[in-house]
Amino acid sequence: LKYFEIAVIPGDGIGKEVVPASLNVLNTIAELHGGLKFTFTEFPWSCEYYLEHEVMMPETGLETLKNFNAIFLGAVGNPDIVPDHISLWGLLIKIRRAFEQTINIRPAKYFKGLRSPLVNPKDFDLIVVRENSEGEYSEVGGRIHSGKDETAIQNAVFTRKGTERAMRYAFDLAKQRKKHVTSATKSNGIVHSMPFWDEVFRDVQKDYSDIGTASYHIDALAAAFVTKPEIFDVIVASNLFGDILTDIGGAIMGSIGIAPAANLNVNGKYPSMFEPVHGSAPDIVGKNIANPIGQIWTAKMMLDHFGEVELGKRLLEVIEEVTEDQFKTPDIGGTSTTNAVADEICARLLKSEALSK
Ligand code: NAD
Ligand code: IPM
Ligand code: MN
Repeated sequence: LKYFEIAVIPGDGIGKEVVPASLNVLNTIAELHGGLKFTFTEFPWSCEYYLEHEVMMPETGLETLKNFNAIFLGAVGNPDIVPDHISLWGLLIKIRRAFEQTINIRPAKYFKGLRSPLVNPKDFDLIVVRENSEGEYSEVGGRIHSGKDETAIQNAVFTRKGTERAMRYAFDLAKQRKKHVTSATKSNGIVHSMPFWDEVFRDVQKDYSDIGTASYHIDALAAAFVTKPEIFDVIVASNLFGDILTDIGGAIMGSIGIAPAANLNVNGKYPSMFEPVHGSAPDIVGKNIANPIGQIWTAKMMLDHFGEVELGKRLLEVIEEVTEDQFKTPDIGGTSTTNAVADEICARLLKSEALSK
């Protein structure tokens, strides 16, 4: 029996809707498999928790999370009651940093049955490797002067170690895929970090002679994601560039509500965290219309991480089937509820025999 203990943080907004729906799917998978067991331990850490406790998670929170095999998180943020920089840096970013989740992988692919906004979408299948610990998300900087001269300075931090780690991850991933890596740069406009980024890319590339490469400035790359996403395989990007590109990745699939992600701890010291690309979507909360696919596909990435690749593959096939058969939430042109989509995925998993051992 394989046994995984999972810390569950639904968080805020639609996180509290798509996470329970996804846990049903994971339970169904365990039931079918027979040799797999999950335990879910839920933590109420969120903006509401903050209002009560003045912290996003208890002081012992990280210590508690450390003992789990993985963290499954919905979304954090309710800017009406807690400013985002407090809620996000107090929970999501805190975990990413403390647990050295330095790599964030975020796939996007053309899905049968999805309503892509692209006029004539080709069969794209790409994955963004987002550096997840440094870059533009640094604490270095501050406010200087006051009055009309008041100035905020945000320093971007790029270490050779962190940059190279993301790039090597991307090249290793490309080896198992279409053998191509695109670097997201901006060395024409950003004077220190991006020429450095290019230099590290060239150095790393030398160790991977069988992998094709390209380098795009981030502005042109954002456009190419829309006009010709099918030319990409693996894209390596800094923290902020990767953040922006992956919402575009979601959008070209049809909705950011579909896009999954995995925050990986690659040194094996801490748990990894599985959390979709989208946020807490305050505009649609409480209506049971949030698309659960981003969270469910994120669960598939967690299965992959646990070594259950076949199961993950089957789950993604079922997600695609269900979408093609018009079980769709309104963001992708359907009328189904969150629960109806998740229930249909469970029902079809139960019908499939491929999973039973
Ligand atoms: P968002 O991703 O929450 O929403 C953007 C748009 O996409 C909204 O119109 C929303 O309704 C729609 N959308 C998002 N997920 C959807 C889904 N599953 N199904 C259908 N539609 C969906 O981004 P935002 O509005 O910029 O942020 C809202 C809050 O979430 C903020 O507090 C923000 O900081 C936070 N946020 C958190 C995370 C995270 O925890 N990982 C990620 C992004 C944003
Ligand atoms: C994401 C989110 C976060 C990020 C925010 C909420 C801090 O947008 O996971 O994509 O920028 O990393
Ligand atoms: Mn984002």
